[in-house]
Amino acid sequence: MSVYPQLPPGVGRILYSETALRQRVSELGRQISADYDGRNPLVVGVLKGVVFFMSDLLRAITVPVSVDYMAISRYRPDSAAKGPVRLTKDLEEPVEGRHVLFVEDVIDTGLTLSYLLRNLRARDPLSLEVCALFDKPQRRIAEIPVRYKGFELPDRFVVGYGLDYKEAYRNLPYVAELTPAALGLRNQ
Ligand code: IMP
Ligand code: MG
Repeated sequence: MSVYPQLPPGVGRILYSETALRQRVSELGRQISADYDGRNPLVVGVLKGVVFFMSDLLRAITVPVSVDYMAISRYRPDSAAKGPVRLTKDLEEPVEGRHVLFVEDVIDTGLTLSYLLRNLRARDPLSLEVCALFDKPQRRIAEIPVRYKGFELPDRFVVGYGLDYKEAYRNLPYVAELTPAALGLRNQ
């Protein structure tokens, strides 16, 4: 059972507490800062889920960075059809000649990211690496080289710390499973 006395409706077991997230994110920040020492990477995130992780990660990075965001058409958890995603907001910063660090909240099938990486690679960055807070390797369809990884997740839908279920739960400071009742609604 959870140590949190009052969980919002639909929220089940807590998988990663605020403390656990903070600790892992600062480790990632230290690792990235060491690897990018002397460089000025362009850190790119995909809206909206990544903003919580990215703002904490950026504060844990000590090298100078530029920051930019992209947005894509909505991921639909109920949809069996996972066609190519559509870019709804492009970067404002040029990518050519930059060291690009692509930050994702969760990599599931990898299809979203593989599309976005192909798109970025075509713009001739000097380097392109991926940092993902969560990875679900069992679900992978498209192969993705993940240089920095927070945690591996089992094949389970989770919410909180930016991750949503139908736009709800993003602002939970921890990451949790949904209750079976909420998951039942998800499958309708
Ligand atoms: P992929 O294309 O299958 O890798 O999907 C990745 C995207 O799906 C992520 O950026 C999330 O928006 C969403 N997603 C995948 N798994 C979860 C989850 O467990 N909770 C919330 N969103 C998820
Ligand atoms: Mg999402």
